[in-house]
Amino acid sequence: MNALKLFGIMVTAILLGTTWAFAAGGGETDKCAACHQQKNPGLYSQWKNSAHGKQGVGCLDCHGAAPKDVDAFTHEGATIATLVTPKDCGKCHEKEADETMRSYHATAGEILESNDAFLAHVGGGQPVAIAGCESCHGGKVKIDPKAPNKLAKESWPNSGIGRINPDGSKGACNACHSRHSFSKAQARQPENCGKCHLGPDHPQKEIYEESKHGIAYAAHKDSMKLNNDSWVVGVDYYDAPTCATCHMSATQKQPVSHDVGARISWTLRPPISKHKDNWQAKRGNMQDVCSSCHQGAFVNGHYYQYDAMVELYNEKFAKPATAIYKMLKDKGLLERKAEFANEIDWQYWELWHHEGRRARMGAAMMGPDYTWWHGIYDVAQNFYFKLIPSALAYKDAEVTAYIDNLLKTDPMHNWINRDTKTLKEDIRSGKLQEVYRKLFQQQQ
Ligand code: HEC
Ligand code: HEC
Ligand code: HEC
Ligand code: HEC
Ligand code: HEC
Ligand code: HEC
Ligand code: HEC
Ligand code: HEC
Repeated sequence: MNALKLFGIMVTAILLGTTWAFAAGGGETDKCAACHQQKNPGLYSQWKNSAHGKQGVGCLDCHGAAPKDVDAFTHEGATIATLVTPKDCGKCHEKEADETMRSYHATAGEILESNDAFLAHVGGGQPVAIAGCESCHGGKVKIDPKAPNKLAKESWPNSGIGRINPDGSKGACNACHSRHSFSKAQARQPENCGKCHLGPDHPQKEIYEESKHGIAYAAHKDSMKLNNDSWVVGVDYYDAPTCATCHMSATQKQPVSHDVGARISWTLRPPISKHKDNWQAKRGNMQDVCSSCHQGAFVNGHYYQYDAMVELYNEKFAKPATAIYKMLKDKGLLERKAEFANEIDWQYWELWHHEGRRARMGAAMMGPDYTWWHGIYDVAQNFYFKLIPSALAYKDAEVTAYIDNLLKTDPMHNWINRDTKTLKEDIRSGKLQEVYRKLFQQQQ
């Protein structure tokens, strides 16, 4: 933001007579800062040395509240709130707040109806839903009028990405811009996204680290100009892309976007992957990022290989596994009624939610180990040696016939009823590979 824009904000604030005033080192904020410098010297220094501290954006500019706000309380003569929501930040950063609230991140707190949440509540219990799920996704921040800061202890601290705030806004900007430095350099680093994007069901951080991109980042971090004001890929830096580079940051054609879904064509989260709305345009946005460092045929080649991997997972494993599991459930064959109370519930779940996601995400972001060893290898082992035996154990004629037919007649599966010698011959001659040709026929 330049000085002119800053002045504009101050004038607008005065004209609108909003409940906050741009304090610019003014008296009230000085009082807050001086006392908190004694009480919490670390907090004070984080703020003082930040872009905000340097530009005179003070404590009250963010914490100031109107008396009618449900989380407002009187503190040292001022009406303040502890929470600073996207709506509060949006008073000065409208574009970032709008994009954030429109993005998929903003819906992350709406997980209560999901199977993940069901599992957490039955298999785990309430404390893990709070300290686990909600710490990444964000929970509903509840008001406790008796609490010193009006925030119920079981719902705050929380800086989950889709936090549901008492003012109706969604998200927490400090999920990526840690307080009180609120630095963009920190947000540009992969470690920042890695708080949430890691682990057995969405190992983006680990995939990135094993990719050529992560390796190049580790080697060249110091020359990446993470502290630059302008950070256009290929212009201000060129050694490696970070998560932010590909999903958020500026290119020569695109501005920074806080809508992390704007460059994604598939959703790899559900049991069977689907294209997103308007996926060609979104794919074009991502390819524009790649083309800052790579040439067109190389980028298209990557998507050709990636699409085939998604189709392989969808067609060979996800669709039949889903059909088998659904048949058992529809027929009421599972011995216990509650989901996750039967072993096959967990087998099917791990097949798509853990193993299948890993394979797809590995292929999306150039992580070969996640694509195969932590990916399709695990999917195949689960499918052939856990899920299918469990399904057969129900001894239902229709289910058994479906599985027999699949393993005998589907050219992707009938290897299981053949011998190694002829299979190896088919691999040497390329005949087995031909079976998978159709997966590469997808449109670019
Ligand atoms: C009263 C206006 C105001 C409010 C409220 C405000 N900011 Fe800022 N913000 C600024 C100004 C001014 C700058 C400095 C711009 C510059 O240096 O170009 C800034 C800079 C930033 C930067 C860039 C920092 C860097 O490393 O260069 C980030 C990120 C940021 N703000 C996030 C936030 C978040 C998150 C909130 C809410 C928790 C917030 N801001 C609330 C005015 C505000
Ligand atoms: C004279 C010292 C003093 C002054 C002045 C002061 N504070 Fe505080 N503040 C504290 C102390 C001590 C606490 C701990 C909670 C309590 O006992 O009220 C606190 C708590 C807070 C909290 C809540 C923390 C929580 O746990 O939720 C916020 C936010 C805060 N202060 C911001 C401000 C702002 C903004 C101002 C300026 C209007 C300010 N403070 C002025 C001493 C001070
Ligand atoms: C750019 C906006 C911004 C400014 C300026 C700011 N804060 Fe905060 N502050 C936040 C955010 C965001 C949180 C996290 C609250 C939440 O979960 O929404 C926070 C949390 C706090 C907390 C409670 C959390 C903790 O770690 O103890 C205190 C106390 C606090 N701020 C005091 C201050 C004081 C004192 C100042 C001035 C020196 C200040 N803040 C300036 C945005 C701001
Ligand atoms: C370490 C942080 C983290 C924890 C803990 C976590 N999640 Fe997630 N969750 C994520 C991320 C990141 C994604 C998105 C992955 C992607 O898009 O590839 C996600 C995706 C989801 C989805 C899929 C959303 C969709 O639209 O398809 C649901 C539902 C979900 N999580 C619920 C939960 C529940 C319930 C818990 C607790 C049992 C939980 N998560 C624990 C980070 C976490
Ligand atoms: C998913 C992580 C993430 C979240 C959540 C997030 N930001 Fe950012 N933000 C970033 C990244 C990454 C950058 C740096 C982009 C760049 O310049 O490459 C950034 C940059 C900024 C900047 C500097 C913009 C500029 O053009 O210099 C501001 C201001 C900002 N964010 C405000 C906010 C506000 C306000 C919120 C909440 C409404 C928010 N951010 C939420 C990741 C995030
Ligand atoms: C505090 C946790 C958290 C952080 C930090 C975080 N994310 Fe996310 N992200 C999530 C969750 C949870 C979801 C799934 C949202 C849902 O279930 O609605 C998600 C979804 C996404 C998606 C999928 C969007 C879509 O439209 O399908 C992308 C891409 C993404 N995040 C990128 C990033 C990047 C890049 C960063 C760092 C700059 C980042 N995230 C930081 C938790 C986080
Ligand atoms: C070289 C660019 C690049 C980098 C670096 C990168 N990604 Fe991605 N990411 C992609 C591509 C390409 C896709 C697949 C897009 C599509 O389906 O069209 C993707 C997909 C995703 C998805 C969507 C997964 C889903 O479930 O649908 C998430 C979430 C994500 N990335 C997060 C991250 C995080 C977090 C990091 C850093 C640890 C990261 N990405 C690093 C390019 C990148
Ligand atoms: C900031 C520059 C930059 C951006 C942006 C970028 N890459 Fe890369 N990419 C690299 C570098 C550097 C390497 C490592 C080259 C090497 O090791 O020889 C690499 C390696 C790769 C590789 C591995 C090639 C191999 O031989 O193993 C693939 C595939 C790839 N990039 C695809 C992409 C795609 C797809 C995108 C966009 C989604 C993208 N890259 C964005 C710089 C970038």
